[in-house]
Amino acid sequence: MKLLALLGYPRKHGHTARLAELFLKGAASAGAEIQREDLSTLDVRPCLGCYSCWTKNPGKCVQQDEMERLLTLFLETDLVFVASPIYAFSVSSYVKHFMERTLTILSPGAEIGENGIERNRWRYPGRGPKRMAAILVAGRKNPDIIQPTIKMLELWAGAMRMECSGILSRPESCALRFPQAKPLRTKAILTGCERAGIEFVTQPCISETILKEVSAPLLAGLPYFAQYSRIFWEHALEAGDECDAAGEAAGKDVRILIHEMVRNASPTTLQDVTATIQFEFPDKGLAYTVAIRNGTCSLTESACPSPTLLIRCPSSLWSAVVQRTIAGAQLMAHPDLHLEGDTQLFRRLPRYFPPPSD
Ligand SMILES: Cc1cc2nc3c(=O)[nH]c(=O)nc-3n(C[C@H](O)[C@H](O)[C@H](O)COP(=O)(O)O)c2cc1C
Repeated sequence: MKLLALLGYPRKHGHTARLAELFLKGAASAGAEIQREDLSTLDVRPCLGCYSCWTKNPGKCVQQDEMERLLTLFLETDLVFVASPIYAFSVSSYVKHFMERTLTILSPGAEIGENGIERNRWRYPGRGPKRMAAILVAGRKNPDIIQPTIKMLELWAGAMRMECSGILSRPESCALRFPQAKPLRTKAILTGCERAGIEFVTQPCISETILKEVSAPLLAGLPYFAQYSRIFWEHALEAGDECDAAGEAAGKDVRILIHEMVRNASPTTLQDVTATIQFEFPDKGLAYTVAIRNGTCSLTESACPSPTLLIRCPSSLWSAVVQRTIAGAQLMAHPDLHLEGDTQLFRRLPRYFPPPSD
């Protein structure tokens, strides 16, 4: 089965590229013969709206660019896969240019499709792809902002006589760069993309379960997302790039990790604990208070008077503690660790604050 991959992302190591490649890996493993077309590197101009392809020269565009070749591929393929980041609440302009230029393979005059929706006539009866799938990757957290683009792609698929097998959406893309927050869910998103590729080739539709898995929220809520994304962009600014290194630095940032630590607190082990723990990270000028009461735990971004336990250390040391990359004995003997108050409470912290289990 032939699969034409219309890749509409300019960033070759971005999130869309990563997820699209997993999808294509799955599709290839299911036997698809894949033709990748990297739209951002091709000369595909926007439609001039002259209707020359409907009037003066039916089926032929006045512009001489890569589109004629792409339309031939389009008409000869079985499956089409579109991968695009969300730019300005829509697909990227690379994808949009391609979509506009498919006017050439339509004929003038309307007809009513099987679904009752009007559409232009098809210039090449019996030719053209049968099904489409897509992936849309957005920076924002709210999945609703992707819906209009999903709708638009579905309408376009209908205009092109393709069944829509499923549109994967992945909001809050930068959260994929710190898998520490939700390790299992992040893994499910990545494997979900690959499984979607397999299903696209082997079944009429990508299952709802996979669509849900891929778009599952990663960060706990908008306030976390807002705060983490600001921290992420601080690191990106420092790195001079929105890259893996920035993501790795953000993932190790104690400001994120301490929130994740408290969010993953184990209510059952904290049931009978009443305590306030003050953290001080002098290298960053940061202080936090974790208050534990009746099995719940809250975080304040300031110091507190007379805590049950004071923990003072470099932020990198606490980052290693939360990530479990330093052993308990090594930590206790660490010269940069300063404890005051209930040190027995300190020894119980790994039980109260287990690593994230999703
Ligand atoms: C020009 C531009 C416009 C964008 N517009 C939106 C937008 O409207 N909504 C949104 O959620 N994210 C928007 N973003 C963020 C991208 O969707 C996000 O960073 C995504 O991960 C980009 O894909 P990539 O990682 O493959 O480069 C925009 C990014 C750029 C560069």
